[in-house]
Amino acid sequence: MKSQDIRKQFLEYFKSKSHSIVPSAPMVIKDDPTLMFTNAGMNQFKEFFLGNSIPKNNRVTDTQKCLRVSGKHNDLEEVGHDTYHHTMFEMLGNWSFGDYFKEEAINWAWELLTEVFKINPENLYVSVFEGSEDRDNLGLDTEALELWKKIVPEDRIIYGNKKDNFWEMGDQGPCGPCSEIHIDIRSEVEKAKAPGRDLVNMDHPQVVEIWNLVFMQYNRKANGDLEELPAKHIDTGMGFERLCMVLQNKQSNYDTDVFTPLLNEIEKITGVQYGKSEDSNIAMRVIADHVRAVAFSIADGQLPSNTGAGYVIRRILRRAIRYGFTFLNTKEPFIYKLVPVLSEQMGVAFPELKSQQGLMENVIREEEASFLRTLEQGLVLLENLMKDSKDKTISGEKAFELYDTFGFPIDLTALILRENGYELDEKGFEAELKKQKDRSREATAVSAGDWIDLNEVEEDTFIGYDQLEAEVKVAKYRKVESKKKGEMYQVVLNKTPFYPEGGGQVGDKGIILSSDGEVVDVVDTKKENNLIVHFTKELPRNTDADFKAIVNKTERSNTASNHTATHLLHQALRSILGTHVEQKGSMVQSGYLRFDFSHFSKVTSEELEKVETFVNARIRENLSLEEQRNISYQEAIDQGAIALFGEKYGDSVRAIRFGDSMELCGGIHVRNTSDIWYFKITGESAVASGIRRIEAISGEAAMEYFEEQTNILEEIKSGLKNANDPVKAINNLQDENIALKRQVESLLKDKAKNLKSELKQEVKNVNGINFLSKRVDLDAAGIKDLAFQLGEEIDDLFLLFGTEQNGKALLSCYISKDLVKEKDLNAGQIVRELGKYIQGGGGGQPFFATAGGKKPDGLNEALQKAESFIK
Ligand code: SER
Repeated sequence: MKSQDIRKQFLEYFKSKSHSIVPSAPMVIKDDPTLMFTNAGMNQFKEFFLGNSIPKNNRVTDTQKCLRVSGKHNDLEEVGHDTYHHTMFEMLGNWSFGDYFKEEAINWAWELLTEVFKINPENLYVSVFEGSEDRDNLGLDTEALELWKKIVPEDRIIYGNKKDNFWEMGDQGPCGPCSEIHIDIRSEVEKAKAPGRDLVNMDHPQVVEIWNLVFMQYNRKANGDLEELPAKHIDTGMGFERLCMVLQNKQSNYDTDVFTPLLNEIEKITGVQYGKSEDSNIAMRVIADHVRAVAFSIADGQLPSNTGAGYVIRRILRRAIRYGFTFLNTKEPFIYKLVPVLSEQMGVAFPELKSQQGLMENVIREEEASFLRTLEQGLVLLENLMKDSKDKTISGEKAFELYDTFGFPIDLTALILRENGYELDEKGFEAELKKQKDRSREATAVSAGDWIDLNEVEEDTFIGYDQLEAEVKVAKYRKVESKKKGEMYQVVLNKTPFYPEGGGQVGDKGIILSSDGEVVDVVDTKKENNLIVHFTKELPRNTDADFKAIVNKTERSNTASNHTATHLLHQALRSILGTHVEQKGSMVQSGYLRFDFSHFSKVTSEELEKVETFVNARIRENLSLEEQRNISYQEAIDQGAIALFGEKYGDSVRAIRFGDSMELCGGIHVRNTSDIWYFKITGESAVASGIRRIEAISGEAAMEYFEEQTNILEEIKSGLKNANDPVKAINNLQDENIALKRQVESLLKDKAKNLKSELKQEVKNVNGINFLSKRVDLDAAGIKDLAFQLGEEIDDLFLLFGTEQNGKALLSCYISKDLVKEKDLNAGQIVRELGKYIQGGGGGQPFFATAGGKKPDGLNEALQKAESFIK
């Protein structure tokens, strides 16, 4: 069975049990502060489990792209070393939101595996939660046990502890006991040696978990307590790649058709055969695995970067590069060449891979090239460290510096040191690493208390498209403390006109005014698991009071202006540069806007001008906002609306149209494009390979910009003779300036010439030395020039010149080279000594030196003293 068919059959099975098939949510999460990446199929449904919103269908099924590389579920270090863990993997799942519970979940899972997929039931083991005697004090899951007993012989039921049989997504949130299904795919000979049940959960590569059935019935609160959920749910997750391994009769996930095309391509590129040695096998598996994680995340809009989710992605890619570098001897970028294979193979199930292929290739190639440079540089640094080491040991501090400042991987450092007979102070390194982690944890630590519930949150809680003020109640609140922002409160209202940050647009600011006159500032608004959370510095004294929520209108209308301008900019770019332009990020706030998009070269100034003109033409066309609030996703797309990759869209969406610009968007817009007044681009730059950024302003900010520019112009004009044509006047001034400079230069030359012949007359003979000490009116360069010219014409010359320029004194001393030798004279020493008369110092060479000082009055004395050096 091909992997594509396995995926399809899973979904079809649950469709036949009245589940609706839904698309995978993006792998990169944007609106949940507790998670960076989707780490389980249930993430996108968290709000349903918590009762924050009501699902349209209470039975759904999907295949979800997951990434387990950070936080509670982190498999990164195992990946490649074993044959069944992955960074990015697909999780097949079926869900019940308050509908069916354990009985159906268990029976269907069993039926699908044994009757549809025809897995021999004798190879399967199941587990049930045995209970726990810790603070949760939970009992044995007898309900699941009794259900399993009906279909599985008791000797294949395993009692599991909390670690294996109680599933939690993170430190907080919905959770519950679970039953896992494990499979034993060992050969009959191996099976005879040890019973399969002894190998369950023992990290045996051929006795692995394939499916986890979670019975969601609790919510883990911030204080660690469990509370019963209002309704009971089912959340199951089956590892797609492992299922493929089983159904394709393979011993490793990497031998299935999910990975073989990638491994074949790696073989072709590197010339190394998979299976040749353990080291190269690991490297090839790492690369085949990691390219998927990186490519999927770029397709979701998350590029490698230096912070947050982007940094995690960068590190995954770097891990792959360094395995290739060390074990496959790859010194040139090559991982990007796997992208076409991946998109060919998975592009049907995940069309974003096809449409984003060019971008993925470019970004990966660029990252590879730059990290390979880092590796080369790191090797040189490491070699120097080895050379400098006296005891054949490299300190943890030095290794950490290499790792932290230069991005050089520590395991590579360790390997190279070992190969050269050096030792790494690993403990020292770990200590440095820990110090750094503690620092950053401390800086970002946020602790949130539990929500205090006061009132219901209304179903259509956001009313801010139509209202900027509303009579509201506090629905819930909690206290949060962070190192960065100190103590804050988060307040959820029963309904709110405040727009929560999203779609690139910042959250609204404003106030909450209580009926007894107390004012609480709302400094930001964000969404969390479908709750709209208002961030405040204080909590209202009486949370039960009636409140008026009032959005800051100026900020809101400036932001709306920039948001609509962003749509028009997007339209302009697609129409002027081409439809390859796709939004890759945006930031819309009251002061300015920023728009990132795919495009492979710098946008020229002519193109930028055209873009500006295009947008301003739409503004002047007075296009009215046409908004469709609850339109089906498909209908909007059919009407020509643009959707963004990596965005999660529900079945019904909001479409925003201004003339021919139509986008799916939840943000705030102007009523009419004329409200934008004017659009002005202020910057164009590169964000990454193949991604450009335009920064711009509109509305009030554009008005201020022009006012400022006009003021500058007025000021310039006021200083000009011909104020009617300032450009011409400035050009004239510049021409005049050039002509004058030339004149000055030639005059100075003449002056120096005259001066030279005058000075020649004044040179006198002192003790057989041609001596002159004099004040001249030239700049430093002129004096030097003059001294050397005189030196060429007069032998055995000793010169001391003094000059005053801009209130400062300068002494320059020239001595013919023969004199320096024969009479042991040194100009450097002489000016240093004479420097004291002008309160300064200096130096130079024995035949020419200068000293500067802040006391021009002392020049004469210094000049008089000159003769004493040769007397
Ligand atoms: N949430 C469970 C898991 O991730 C089942 O989907 O294993």
